[in-house]
Amino acid sequence: MSDNKSVVLNAAGKNVELPVHHGTLGAPCVDITRLPKETGLFTYDPGFVATASCRSAVTYIDGDEGVLLYRGYPIEQLAKHSSFLETSYLLMNGELPDASQFAKFEHEVTHHTMMHEAFKSFLHGFRHDAHPMAMLCGMVGSLAAFYHDDLDLEDPEQRRLAAIRLLAKVPTIAAACYRHSIGWPIRYPRNNLEYVERFLHMMFEVPSGPLQLKPVAAKALDLLFILHADHEQNASTSTVRLVGSTGANPYACVAAGVAALWGPAHGGANEAVLKMLAEIGRPEDVSKAVDRAKDKNSGFRLMGFGHRVYKNFDPRATIIREMCHKVLSELGVDDPMLEVAMRLEEAALKDEYFVQRKLYPNVDFYSGIIYKALGIPTEMFTVMFAIARTAGWVSHWLEQQTDPEAKIGRPRQIYTGAATRDYVGMDKR
Ligand code: CMC
Repeated sequence: MSDNKSVVLNAAGKNVELPVHHGTLGAPCVDITRLPKETGLFTYDPGFVATASCRSAVTYIDGDEGVLLYRGYPIEQLAKHSSFLETSYLLMNGELPDASQFAKFEHEVTHHTMMHEAFKSFLHGFRHDAHPMAMLCGMVGSLAAFYHDDLDLEDPEQRRLAAIRLLAKVPTIAAACYRHSIGWPIRYPRNNLEYVERFLHMMFEVPSGPLQLKPVAAKALDLLFILHADHEQNASTSTVRLVGSTGANPYACVAAGVAALWGPAHGGANEAVLKMLAEIGRPEDVSKAVDRAKDKNSGFRLMGFGHRVYKNFDPRATIIREMCHKVLSELGVDDPMLEVAMRLEEAALKDEYFVQRKLYPNVDFYSGIIYKALGIPTEMFTVMFAIARTAGWVSHWLEQQTDPEAKIGRPRQIYTGAATRDYVGMDKR
């Protein structure tokens, strides 16, 4: 590095000076945009392991130190003092709201929760056993058809309204997908309830009687939503930005985010935890599972342990662990699978193999257990993640729309196909 403002790269027989950009926090980034023009060379970075795709002021992660900041605020402070709705305002607007700003925001989100009645017939077009993520993806995408003609992306107020609509309607759609899958009538959103309680009512209330909701259930879900609200340029957020870079309708962008989240390498890990616990089966079989996870030939890993970015600990897991134990004791849940989970956590945290490799339970280990304790079925786990992450997706989409450096996302490739050749008629092949 020649100085901290630029690096000189010796490439294609010449020295090229490349600027280095510094953010508020985090590693500096070498700007390689002029490299192809000056040298004819491109860069190769599958999975964007070493590449920043944009400037963003929304979220910061330091994986080595276990730091997660939303708009500069540590996740621990937001988890303790904030709510999901206030956190969503923060992510979308950059600052915490004052009382009147929050009241207006809450009012708007509350009054945009209804779905057009035509959605019902659309929903009923799905087979009852369709995966809820498939339904969610289709239903969110279809919002583009309902709010297309009047959407002017140049108008900041219309963009803001689209973001509010998404935040408001995704829980309604999610609950409707669940109820369709079990053959229950859809519940309309109740405006007298707060965001998370309203969602739980839409999920679980039956026409024959009121839902008795324990406060710890709404509190735990609100906390999980805060923890999952954003995680900087992860796969689904990057997908939303990539689709957004083409000028596509925001509902279509978020539907693409839902699709990206669905994969087991991204939002599907909490589902994998529950499947693993079911496979282990009994608390007395936990030590056998731990031994299998240590055996490299077994091909088995403890799901919900370890993290690609957080190498010391996942700050979200530290927060949610406490809530997980509270939920289990306050709800008095008596489920052998949860007993398996608690034994597994205890055994792995004491085991030399896991301690040495710094393999701690991650956020998905505990979130799956909490969802299960709240009565949310396993196929809905990724849907829950999508509800929370909608706050992050719309915040990144809004940010991108005013980014003067934003360009259509268009990666290059290393072509490995055939070189130029002549067409041969079928009779000569
Ligand atoms: N169980 C047993 N051993 C493990 C595990 C595990 N869950 N995770 C890592 N190891 C071992 C691994 O075998 C290796 O051992 P050694 O050094 O002896 O070869 C060492 O720990 C380092 O593993 P790695 O594969 O190099 O670590 P990574 O950073 O590439 O992988 C991970 C991270 C999350 C993919 C991995 O820990 C894993 O597969 N965990 C289970 C799946 C899971 O819970 N995923 C959800 C992550 S949180 C998602 C989110 O934030 O959205």
